[in-house]
Amino acid sequence: MDEHKKKGSSPGDSQCLVYKPTASVIEGATLKEYEVLYQRSISDRLGFWAEEAQKLEWFKGWDRVLDDSNKPFFKWFVGGKTNIVLNAIDRHVLTWRRNKLALIWEAETGESRTYSYHALNREVCKFANILKSMGVKKGEVVTLYLPQIPELTIAMLACAKIGAVHSVVFGGFSVEALATRIRDASSRVVVTADGGFRRGKTFELKSIVNEALKDSPTVEVCITVKRTGQPVSMEADRDFWLHELMALPIASMKCETEVMDAEDPLFILYTSGTTGKPKGLLHTHGGYSVYTATTLKYVFDLKEEDRYWCTADPGWITGHSYLVYGPLINGATQVMYEGAPNHPYPNRWWQIIEKYGVTILYTSPTAIRGLMRFGEQWPKRHDLSSLRLLGSVGEPINPEAWRWYHRVIGGERCPIMDTWWQTETGGFVITPLPISPLKPGSATRPFFGHEVAVVDDQGAQVPVGSEGNLVLKAPWPGMARTIWGDPERYKETYWKTYEKQGWYKAGDSARMDEDGYFWIIGRTDDVIKVSGHRLGTAEIESALVSHADVAEAAVIGVPHELKGHAIHCFVLLKHGRTGGKELEEQLKEHVSHQMGSLARPEKIEFMSVLPKTRSGKIMRRVLRARALGQDVGDTSTLEE
Ligand code: WT7
Repeated sequence: MDEHKKKGSSPGDSQCLVYKPTASVIEGATLKEYEVLYQRSISDRLGFWAEEAQKLEWFKGWDRVLDDSNKPFFKWFVGGKTNIVLNAIDRHVLTWRRNKLALIWEAETGESRTYSYHALNREVCKFANILKSMGVKKGEVVTLYLPQIPELTIAMLACAKIGAVHSVVFGGFSVEALATRIRDASSRVVVTADGGFRRGKTFELKSIVNEALKDSPTVEVCITVKRTGQPVSMEADRDFWLHELMALPIASMKCETEVMDAEDPLFILYTSGTTGKPKGLLHTHGGYSVYTATTLKYVFDLKEEDRYWCTADPGWITGHSYLVYGPLINGATQVMYEGAPNHPYPNRWWQIIEKYGVTILYTSPTAIRGLMRFGEQWPKRHDLSSLRLLGSVGEPINPEAWRWYHRVIGGERCPIMDTWWQTETGGFVITPLPISPLKPGSATRPFFGHEVAVVDDQGAQVPVGSEGNLVLKAPWPGMARTIWGDPERYKETYWKTYEKQGWYKAGDSARMDEDGYFWIIGRTDDVIKVSGHRLGTAEIESALVSHADVAEAAVIGVPHELKGHAIHCFVLLKHGRTGGKELEEQLKEHVSHQMGSLARPEKIEFMSVLPKTRSGKIMRRVLRARALGQDVGDTSTLEE
């Protein structure tokens, strides 16, 4: 929190100028009036959502917009029949859009591919037929563990098309993280690749799957995409190459889109929480389609002629909502890039913007900070004049990075949509529209249909400018419906604190300023955002404890210039073991191997004792204060 004050992102700070949209932005924008539309969306919330939902295709219309009879298990568009693929592909291929580019994909290696909506439909149908031939049934969970290649988008859509539920595991995760997610979902089928490319090197995927499958008894079939050509071990009767299956007559180019109930599951996506194993958040066909389509259309003012580029990996919610489903439902042309932003040179992204004429760029503060470091000369080599809108997501954007993004990348003409949302919300919740006056570092105001507040632990609104818990007061179509296999935990985690009021607790702390603008401060639970990636301290701690020398471990996030937060670990060794540089390296390697390199600790400190409460809970607050060289505060509950 102090960190933010220093950077001048707090309300009332003199540095915090308001950026008004230019006349041309206002002129071109679809929505001209936030206030009027917002008031309408609040006074007639269901009417607003029904009107948006009507813009999509349905096999059969809904009977009720919202069923809130079993709170907090809300149902949207009850009785409606649809399939997200009906809107993302089927309706487009019946129009001229069959010839429109759906996807322009480029890899770090320079290789590129394009898909029209017609081609995407063909590939999705073929893939869907392969899944069917493997016995995949409606409602079963298929785990996808792939690099950032079109096959990932195609596999997701293929699952949705036949009514299977996809669970995408980010390709940067490793053995233990993957195995936990496969087991929790009881997947029978896994789709992967032999490997992927990053920074001029290959990384492994299939070998990680093979290791994870030793602990995943439910898996019967593994389909592998040949991407790098590196040698991998394939087991007879379990392992199949995708390209071989695609060549078989079973991979027919025709496949019916399954008629789904609006509330039928579309996907689960695992995310980290305070304790224990990751939570599989469940999203559904109907509400999620309406929510991602509507939010993307209004916030990025998506137009037919746009070339939209979201740099996220489909393995995270940003990729699901705004790289796969949102853009496709809107019939957009989008760019997808596999690789590092600065390989082989720090102009890689700027080159892509120029090459493809990207008009909308949606990325993360951590990427902007990383690229800013190389200086203006890299973007300056390229013509970025095609850009008209910019976006940011994943963590609060510090005003310096915001201003650089605005000035150097956006040429001072592109408004920045700083979108606050979560895996749980399915799409944007607090966000500007192109017409909004902007304050660098603030996600501005609630999207249509949302009432957002900053409250204390009892639910009383805190004074303007004070810090408190962020709550969402009313349900929205894109909300996660439950945690896979654990509805109690869903209730407990998000709805228990404000049960009386019926509010959703976001798990973030925030402030609201005198203009009603929201300033997100950070997580209030044991979640760390490392380079915008959401990691749970509990998962990293159990990875540490699985090492033979470690007795106990505590993990915290500490502010980091580039990553936002970095992982610091405090480790208590088993009796007779001693710490040192070598063991520190070994433990870092161990966590990378178990969890993935994104969870690689920045620092490991060996402790002779960990601060605990009398009831045995590790006091991370004390560790955090110590790591930051701050006053430890009240330690009256600390064990002797
Ligand atoms: C957490 C959710 C939403 C897609 C990517 C992250 C933080 C996200 C912002 C933003 C400040 C942000 C919050 C939130 N966060 N966007 N624009 N400004 N903080 O999804 O992995 O589920 O993480 O990311 O702390 O709770 P996620």
